[in-house]
Amino acid sequence: MGIFRNNLRAELKELIPEQQERLKKLKTDYGKAQLGNTTVDMVIGGMRGMIGLLWETSLLDPEEGIRFRGLSIPECQKVLPAASPGGEPLPEGLLWLLLTGKVPSKTQVDSLSDELHSRSFVPDHVYKAIDSLPVSAHPMTQFTTGVMALQVQSEFQKAYENGISKAKFWEPTYEDSLNLIAQVPVVASYIYRRVYKKGDVIPADKSLDYGANFSHILGFDDPKMKELMRLYVTIHSDHEGGNVSAHTAHLVASALSDPYLSFGAALNGLAGPLHGLANQEVLLWIKSVVEECGENITTEQLKDYVWKTLKSGKVVPGYGHGVLRKTDPRYTCQREFALKHLPDDPLFQLVSKLYEVVPPILTELGKVKNPWPNVDAHSGVLLNHFGLTEARYFTVLFGVSRSLGICSQLIWDRALGLPLERPKSVTMEWLENYCRKASV
Ligand SMILES: CC(C)(COP(=O)(O)OP(=O)(O)OC[C@H]1O[C@@H](n2cnc3c(N)ncnc32)[C@H](O)[C@@H]1OP(=O)(O)O)[C@@H](O)C(=O)NCCC(=O)NCCS
Repeated sequence: MGIFRNNLRAELKELIPEQQERLKKLKTDYGKAQLGNTTVDMVIGGMRGMIGLLWETSLLDPEEGIRFRGLSIPECQKVLPAASPGGEPLPEGLLWLLLTGKVPSKTQVDSLSDELHSRSFVPDHVYKAIDSLPVSAHPMTQFTTGVMALQVQSEFQKAYENGISKAKFWEPTYEDSLNLIAQVPVVASYIYRRVYKKGDVIPADKSLDYGANFSHILGFDDPKMKELMRLYVTIHSDHEGGNVSAHTAHLVASALSDPYLSFGAALNGLAGPLHGLANQEVLLWIKSVVEECGENITTEQLKDYVWKTLKSGKVVPGYGHGVLRKTDPRYTCQREFALKHLPDDPLFQLVSKLYEVVPPILTELGKVKNPWPNVDAHSGVLLNHFGLTEARYFTVLFGVSRSLGICSQLIWDRALGLPLERPKSVTMEWLENYCRKASV
């Protein structure tokens, strides 16, 4: 690998002792401080609201949405370097921010783009592993297969086998993480071209940044699509630590499984319809609305369709959230992108209409805690507009983006020496006995 003008690894090396001290002090000063009560509802209800994880790269506020190292999405759009002035943030800049907590210069970001290109080689056996699956296999299955095949190059695994000391764990984790982040767009685009474009693979353009090159190797060279891909990768990268994919990676990595193993596990969680697969479900659902009612659907027809979905025992995809209680700012910035670049797109107009129609209906149901749209309610129609119409593929794009947030945190997990995760589980009988005794 060549020498790059960025000093990302050196910056991290400098930051790590500070943060290790900070954690040590936190433990000494406040190790026994209470952070709230655990209720039976929390134990049964998927640990909602239970504080149980350390996750440095981002924090989610139920009302305000995500902040990456303290910066909201509009703030990131303002301060992170863009390909051209006023454009969407470059994902490499966000990666730098997630890793260091600092906003990088354009020169640092450009150098990181070059470095990622230099790390992006994917060995032949990875393509062979993917090719051994039927073309009809879900793209997410092909993607995890590709990531697992990449694992054979893990620097962390090699270093561990050679007896690396715990104090240095973060270093091969860093190498694996940057390699993985660089390689996943190549694997992902291979799958797209294999499944939808007769295997006609497009070579990388090393003069392009991460988002633009990803769009290019998928087969989309419209400058607006490249901007969309930069925005897409940036906003899907991280959503604090408790969501299924992030938590899975953190859990698996806590066993000192390397970043490939941990990220592969995360992807399997992302492939679930209540999590990352929702972006696929949204576009399919919107297309089913158009198929049944046409593009010029009236508000009344749309209301009826939403009720029909709910009455058949299904969820309205793209609405609701485990933590958020307002419109997702990731939805809002995609809406702004659409208003700027594709205001007349009929499916965008349908998405806008849904924004008016769905929340009052979900509120009327009485049980939905958040009737507002999430990130997945919008992304599909944007991709569809630029020709990426294959909804079954969308979660792979989400997965590529997630590599940035998950890998950044995994480096910190090892730098901070975070231990094996091992929460306590109990049986229903245990809960019944405990609560009976407690209420006497
Ligand atoms: C995201 C999601 C899984 C969060 O689940 P949650 O934290 O359990 O949400 P809530 O506490 O609000 O759920 C309470 C009830 O409302 C229902 N509900 C929540 N969102 C709903 C939606 N969009 N449509 C219909 N019902 C919904 C739940 O299914 C649950 O019903 P139940 O008690 O009969 O099981 C849920 O909102 C959902 O399924 N949304 C649609 C899928 C989606 O967009 N996922 C992407 C998330 S980023």
